[in-house]
Amino acid sequence: MKPFVVSRKSIPSGLISLAGDKSIAHRALILSSLCSGKTELLNFPIHQDSLATINVFRKLGVNIAYHGAKVQVCGNGLNGLLKPKQPVFVNNSGTTLRLSAGVLAGQDFESTLVAGDALSRRPMKRVNLPLRLMGADISAKQSGEDEYAPLVIRGRKLKGITYRLPVASAQVKSALLLAGLYAEGLTQVIEPFSTRDHTERMLKLFKVKLKAGDNRISLAGRQKLVSPEKIFIPGDISSAAFFIVWAAAIPGARIRIEKVSLNPTRNRIISLLQEMKADIKVIKSVQNGDNEPMGDILVKGGKLKGVNLEREDIPLIVDELPILMVAASLATGKTILRGVGELRVKETDRINSMVENLRKMGADIQVERSGEDEDILIDGSGKLSGASVKSFSDHRTAMSMIVAGLAASGRTSIDDVSCIKKSFPDFIEKAKNLLEDTNF
Ligand code: S3P
Repeated sequence: MKPFVVSRKSIPSGLISLAGDKSIAHRALILSSLCSGKTELLNFPIHQDSLATINVFRKLGVNIAYHGAKVQVCGNGLNGLLKPKQPVFVNNSGTTLRLSAGVLAGQDFESTLVAGDALSRRPMKRVNLPLRLMGADISAKQSGEDEYAPLVIRGRKLKGITYRLPVASAQVKSALLLAGLYAEGLTQVIEPFSTRDHTERMLKLFKVKLKAGDNRISLAGRQKLVSPEKIFIPGDISSAAFFIVWAAAIPGARIRIEKVSLNPTRNRIISLLQEMKADIKVIKSVQNGDNEPMGDILVKGGKLKGVNLEREDIPLIVDELPILMVAASLATGKTILRGVGELRVKETDRINSMVENLRKMGADIQVERSGEDEDILIDGSGKLSGASVKSFSDHRTAMSMIVAGLAASGRTSIDDVSCIKKSFPDFIEKAKNLLEDTNF
């Protein structure tokens, strides 16, 4: 694989629209599959991760067709899934694996979920354990203290439980709420800190009655899902974050991103960059009842300052932490990111990958233990210098390093950026367009 080389060229400027949010897309597809009748999903992102969820539900007998960004799902109803003929491959999509495990726990058949190499190294006990408490029979590969894919799930009659999540994880919460749809009685999940609430919103959109407040979500099992018929999936805020940071850090830049998800459990990246003195305005914001809120974002480039981020905010910005580390390195002054330990168990160990890469580009970045967790300390000098860095086969590390290279002095080469297609296949093309589009 030829390294990908970038350097600071002209100033980014222009208008972009983004494919639908990945997290919302997985949920829309799953609930459309579990509901009787047709649901059309618009602005659906087609990439490796969303195709993994399409693959799972097709193998479970659901009729799913897509043409470009329009997906049509003809759902089988809550109890209409069929036993898959073979083990089902979820590639490297963690959300597909964990959410599907919740659905499969409540079926009356056995199924096996097989993951790609990277996902097979990510911990699964956090989801298997509470599903077992609900009555599911799940076996997994054991190694050390944890459990890993492949998962063999023998569906059972489930019972609702009250479960306090030891780790704030939207994937685990969602797996339990989906299993809760099949359970007898009430399923209650208590979170240590708020995490993205797309499952709750999507359940409500499908007319499931659910109570949420004070980090406690509860739903009664065996409710009927009713299709909203059409769902527009707003642009992916985590994808937008790469362009927002890029434009915010280059004086003179001016970009507008259309119809981006502005879900309050996902948009901490915007308020945090504003705290860093970035010039970001949200315009044309639309609140859509139970639908996901969205709007346009206008970013003008300038100089960034360091900031502090507290532990309880980490789940609200967890996927943006790599690009935030780039922003903090390009800022002047100290940034402290508290309680970032979960980054060790993402697609790759993102503390390791980002710290190694940013140090090569001249950043002053330290990792400190803090009880059971870890903090990151960055003393920003306002600049980065080109270097030879690695993607570690992780799409968010690769895209963060492209943005770092586009803002740094000199040339930056990244060993292999093919991993970007996992969730953002046209990222490079969109970045190039912003360097050419001067009609904004
Ligand atoms: C996701 C939740 C987060 C996030 C992941 C998508 C989701 O994972 O990092 O990219 O769609 O629920 P955790 O639940 O493991 O924090």
